[in-house]
Amino acid sequence: MKIVVTGSLGNISKPLATELIQKGHQVTVISSSNDRKAAIEALGATAAIGTMEDADFLTHAFTRADIVYVMETLKSDAFFDHSLDVVEGITQIGYNYKQAIERSGVKKVVHLSSIGADKGPGLLRFHYNVENILRELPEDVSIKFMRPVGFYYVMYQFIPMIKQQGAIFSNNSLERKTPWVSPLDIAAVIAEDIEKPFEGRTIRYIASDEVSGRDIAKILGEAIGKPDLQWMEISDEQMLNGLLTAGMNPQTAEGYVEMNIPVRDGSLYDDFYSHMPVLGKVKLTDFAKDFAIAYNQNQ
Ligand SMILES: NC(=O)c1ccc[n+]([C@@H]2O[C@H](COP(=O)([O-])OP(=O)(O)OC[C@H]3O[C@@H](n4cnc5c(N)ncnc54)[C@H](OP(=O)(O)O)[C@@H]3O)[C@@H](O)[C@H]2O)c1
Repeated sequence: MKIVVTGSLGNISKPLATELIQKGHQVTVISSSNDRKAAIEALGATAAIGTMEDADFLTHAFTRADIVYVMETLKSDAFFDHSLDVVEGITQIGYNYKQAIERSGVKKVVHLSSIGADKGPGLLRFHYNVENILRELPEDVSIKFMRPVGFYYVMYQFIPMIKQQGAIFSNNSLERKTPWVSPLDIAAVIAEDIEKPFEGRTIRYIASDEVSGRDIAKILGEAIGKPDLQWMEISDEQMLNGLLTAGMNPQTAEGYVEMNIPVRDGSLYDDFYSHMPVLGKVKLTDFAKDFAIAYNQNQ
C-alpha cells in the first residue's frame, strides 16, 4: 500500500516507516527539513519536504495515498516561546489535516492522539480539539485514533533536576501507578493495526508499563548509580513556579500543571482502564538504560 507518514524520522515515525518498508509498503515520509531528505531515502522511503502548517502541501503529499498517518507537533522550543499559543497552533494543524484529507480523497487515516483526548484537560485540550476536527470528516473516511499514554522520554526532563537538586520534583503522585509508553511500542502497534481493516472511527490506547513515582525514582536511580533517588511531591503552585522560572510560556505552564491534576488523582485514565490494552514490550527498566546514557552525557 501507499502510506504517507508525517512526523519525519521522529521517535515514532522512524521505527514506523522502517517497519512499513520492511513489510513491503511504499512509504512517503514528510519532514520540514530538506537536510533530512537523504536519511529518509536511505531508509527506502520517498521524502516529501514541507510543513504541517501548509494545507496545500499536505493535500499534494496525501494525494493517491491509501493510508495517511497524521501526528501534530510544533517546533522543539514551542513550550518556551512566549508569543505562541500552543493549543491554538496544534488545533490549526488539525484543520490543515482535515482539509488535506478531504481534498486529496484519502479514505483511511491513522491519527496519533493521546490519553486524555476524551476530556482534554489543560494542555491535552489540543488532542481533544484535533480528534473532534477529524471526526467532522465525511463518514466514508475511516479513522483509527491512537491514544498513547505519557512517553518515557518526557522523563529526560528530570536530568537537570537530579543533577542540580538531587531529587525528582513533581506534582504527580508518589504512590499511584500510572501507565507509560515507549515510542517503539507505539510504532509496533500502529504498524500492526495499519494492515487490519478500517471501519468507521475506532480508538486504541497504547501503553508499555505501569509505575508509580516511587517506582520511577527507584528504577532510574538504580540505573544512574543513585539508588536512594527520591520522588518529591510538590504542590501545583510550586510546580507552576518551577516551570515559569525555567522560562516556559505562562499559558503553556498553566496548561501543563492543569493536565497533571487528573494524572495525579487517576481520573485521566478512566476510559483507558475501561479499554485497557495489552502492555507493550519496552518496560521502564529498558528505558532506564537510555536514561542512564543521557544522564552520563549531560554535564
Ligand atoms: N509526550 C507525551 O507524553 C505524549 C503523549 C501522547 C501523545 N503525544 C504526541 O506525540 C507527539 C510526538 O511524537 P514523536 O515523539 O514521534 O515526534 P517527534 O520525534 O517529537 O517529532 C517528529 C518530527 O516532526 C517533524 N516536524 C516538526 N515540526 C514540523 C512541522 N511543522 N511540519 C512538518 N514536520 C515537522 C520534525 O522533524 P523534521 O525536523 O525532519 O521536520 C520532528 O522531529 C506529540 O506531538 C504529541 O502529539 C505525546
